[in-house]
Amino acid sequence: MSQYPDLLSLRGRGVVVLGSGAGIGGQVCEAVAQAGGRVLCVDLDAEQAARAAARCGGEALAADITDRAAMAGVVQRAEELFGDEFFGIVDVVGVTLPRALADHDDESAQRQFDLVLRHALLVTQLGMPALARRGGGSVVFVGSLAGWRSTLRIGMYGAAKAALHQLASAAAHEFGPAGVRVNTVVPGRIVQSGTVAPDPEALRRVEEAVPLRRAGVPSDVAGTVLFLLSDLAGYVTGAQVPVDGGIHMVSALPSTQPAVTASRS
Ligand SMILES: NC(=O)c1ccc[n+]([C@@H]2O[C@H](COP(=O)([O-])OP(=O)(O)OC[C@H]3O[C@@H](n4cnc5c(N)ncnc54)[C@H](O)[C@@H]3O)[C@@H](O)[C@H]2O)c1
Repeated sequence: MSQYPDLLSLRGRGVVVLGSGAGIGGQVCEAVAQAGGRVLCVDLDAEQAARAAARCGGEALAADITDRAAMAGVVQRAEELFGDEFFGIVDVVGVTLPRALADHDDESAQRQFDLVLRHALLVTQLGMPALARRGGGSVVFVGSLAGWRSTLRIGMYGAAKAALHQLASAAAHEFGPAGVRVNTVVPGRIVQSGTVAPDPEALRRVEEAVPLRRAGVPSDVAGTVLFLLSDLAGYVTGAQVPVDGGIHMVSALPSTQPAVTASRS
């Protein structure tokens, strides 16, 4: 019989967390460590990486993961550090360059795609083969509701996230036979993370709209990442899992139906 809590354990397995510095990445590092995993905490900001590593007992590495040589260095360090126990990669990085579509010039549009998509392609080309060579593993990307639903002022970010979701599906398809599972978490509005704190009135409107009546916090995302990383999700690949309090299923169209009270006899 399956021992379900054991399936959640990462027991000595090595996991690379890309973008470990901000709220969501930091929580992912802690979740992996609490589940018994070993963590390589990677961030552009060396101090942030060091802080994350100190909190979770992992190793820190500063790298710009949009750069191919830097990503190759990350994978090489993970192979040295974890050996055959190299098991997982969580790619949290996804910076937003907010502006209307018409206001993106060629450079900012390219930069937006690099900050969301390029590193995910590098994970696919450099990280997944390394996991496949060890007989398999688990990769989790952090997507966005903005990749499913249009959101004003972040349309280019949403287009890049939609491409990321599809890249993850294609990677799950290609690497499934090698035992590498690839899944994506799709957060809605998450507070206490690397983004600018929302103004209180905007946050109140978010809370009112969300069926669970609150914004998300980094641990909401980290818990779902941990499940997808672990063997509990051993038959789950190519999934896009919303972590958004249910807002993805709510229509923006107001109901035109009159309220009717059921009369029961
Ligand atoms: N916060 C939200 O409401 C929300 C909603 C939906 C999706 N998301 C997604 O969640 C993820 C985390 O978002 P966030 O706002 O917490 O943090 P973020 O993605 O802006 O930053 C996370 C960390 O990544 C690091 N980083 C940035 N560029 C890097 C690079 N080139 N190389 C290495 N590290 C780099 C940053 O220093 C930071 O510590 C992103 O993918 C984001 O798109 C966030």
